[in-house]
Order: sequence, then structure tokens, then C-alpha cells
Amino acid sequence: MAGRLEGKVAFITGAARGQGRSHAIRFAEEGADIIGVDICSDIDHTGYPLATREDLDETVALVEKLDRRMIAGVGDVRDRDSLAAVLDNGMAELGRLDIVLANAGIMPTYGEHADEVRAWQDSVDVLLTGVMHTIELTYPRLLEQGEGGSIVITSSMAAAQPMARTLDGKTLGLFGYSAAKAAVINLMRNYASILAPYNIRVNAIQPTGVNTPMIQNQMIEERFATADEQDVLALVNALSIDAVEPVDISNAMLWLCSDEGRYMTGSAIRVDAGANLR
Ligand SMILES: NC(=O)c1ccc[n+]([C@@H]2O[C@H](COP(=O)([O-])OP(=O)(O)OC[C@H]3O[C@@H](n4cnc5c(N)ncnc54)[C@H](O)[C@@H]3O)[C@@H](O)[C@H]2O)c1
Repeated sequence: MAGRLEGKVAFITGAARGQGRSHAIRFAEEGADIIGVDICSDIDHTGYPLATREDLDETVALVEKLDRRMIAGVGDVRDRDSLAAVLDNGMAELGRLDIVLANAGIMPTYGEHADEVRAWQDSVDVLLTGVMHTIELTYPRLLEQGEGGSIVITSSMAAAQPMARTLDGKTLGLFGYSAAKAAVINLMRNYASILAPYNIRVNAIQPTGVNTPMIQNQMIEERFATADEQDVLALVNALSIDAVEPVDISNAMLWLCSDEGRYMTGSAIRVDAGANLR
């Protein structure tokens, strides 16, 4: 049976691990070829390690195991030229572009440097400006191709509700993260509006906690060992799980990007295990 994305090519930022890797695999399972980009190095003072080149190579190997192609390269969403180099190379190899997943992210929310302006700025640079670069770079390619397309931005439930309830819970990194995740919903709606006449659809997903290295790390462990219970309660799922799995987000992305989502544009979809109810 033909996959739901047969013949499509997806560009995924932050593809080395976590949700980005899961999207690459899930989309490849449905017949897509992948262009993947990741910074593959740390950003100082983020508080936990980012992905490595080995992680990115592992994603490529996992996609190739599914008999799909993946062209991957190192690039930083803060630097449009580095993204363009990976995209150009991928499109030269794979011949087209249909889907864009603006997924790369950092969460410099806790630890020694989290209340510095730097943590705010890094959050905004990666999570907001990085998404803008990703879309600015890719939508002209979709327009030129003339066959429509689907762009999905990874926002967060942090956009929907306060992530801290006490003074102790506040850091500029956390506020920068939340503000950027809210701002990309506004950005999504503007791009969705201007691109709708060309059948290029733009949506966002708002996950609750997702089981990836972004939250499975020493920074988070240490923070939650000492956090005020009020702050721990800031994001709690209604369903009885601590976090959803990356594939739960991939499946929502897949629905948006397949024909099943053909009339979806301008929406922010919560995959939040009912966190909005608490
Ligand atoms: N994990 C969660 O609980 C959660 C919840 C809601 C939203 N999100 C969002 O989901 C997205 C994916 O995160 P994840 O959970 O897979 O975390 P992750 O840390 O496992 O993956 C993020 C990836 O982005 C890459 N990256 C970071 N900065 C980059 C940059 N400047 N340029 C290119 N690549 C960069 C990292 O190297 C890493 O591979 C992020 O936007 C994150 O904010 C995560």
C-alpha cells in the first residue's frame, strides 16, 4: 500500500535526535525522503548538551533502513546561510520540497545561567528567529515549485499557560522560551494567511512534555528535585502519563502534512494529554 507521503520531500530542522529524528523516521515510513539539519554542537550555557554529528548520522541510518533517502548536514537555524547550504544540497539530490518542519529548539530554562539575559536572547534567537529563517528560506522554494506544501512549527504548551507560579520558578530563559513559543503561533498565522492562495498550509503543534533529551537530562532532574511544588504543577497532564512520546507528535505532524490534513491551515494543535485542563 502506498504511504501517505509517497514522493514527498520533507526538510526537518533539529533532525539529529528527539522529536526531529522521530519525524524523519515516521515520515520516511510513509514514503517521504528527508533533508535534515542540526547544529550538532552545544550552545554555551544552555544547561544540557545538544545533539552530536553521530546523532545526526544515526538518524540518517534509521531512515535509510526504511529504504528512503536522507540528505543531512550541519547548520544553525540562527544562521540562514548555513541552513540554505543544507537545503540546497538536499534539493539538488532529492529534486523537490513539499514539507517543512521547524522543530529545532533549546530550553535554557534552569541552572546557573538561566536567569541571565543571554538565556532569554538565546531562546528568542533559536526558537523565534530560527523559525522565521526556516520559513523565509523555504517558502519561496515551495512557491517556485507551484504544487503547494505544508509547514509545521513546533510550539509548546508553554505558549498557552504560565510555566512558573512562584518567584523562585522564574528565569529569563524560561520566559524567553515561553514568549518565543507563543510568538511563533502569531508568525504561523501570518504565514498561513499570505500563503493560503498558493495552497501552502502553515500550522503549529503545541506539545506537552515529550520524552526527549530536552527534558531527560541532569539540568531538569536537579531543578525538579528542589522546585517548589507550585512550580512543578505549572504543567501537569490530565491523562495519567508524565510525558508523551516523540512519535505522538510525529503522528500529529503527519496528519497535518498528509492529504488528510489538506484543509488545515492557521491552526495551533495541542497534543497535550489534557494539560490545558489542569
Ligand atoms: N521535549 C519537550 O518536552 C518539548 C515540549 C514542547 C515542545 N518542545 C519543542 O520540541 C522541539 C524539539 O525538541 P526535542 O524535545 O526533540 O528536544 P531535543 O533537545 O532532543 O532536540 C532538539 C534538537 O534541535 C537541535 N538544535 C538546537 N538548537 C539548534 C540550532 N540553533 N540549529 C539547529 N539545530 C538546533 C538540537 O541539537 C537537537 O537535536 C523543540 O522546538 C522544543 O522546544 C519540546
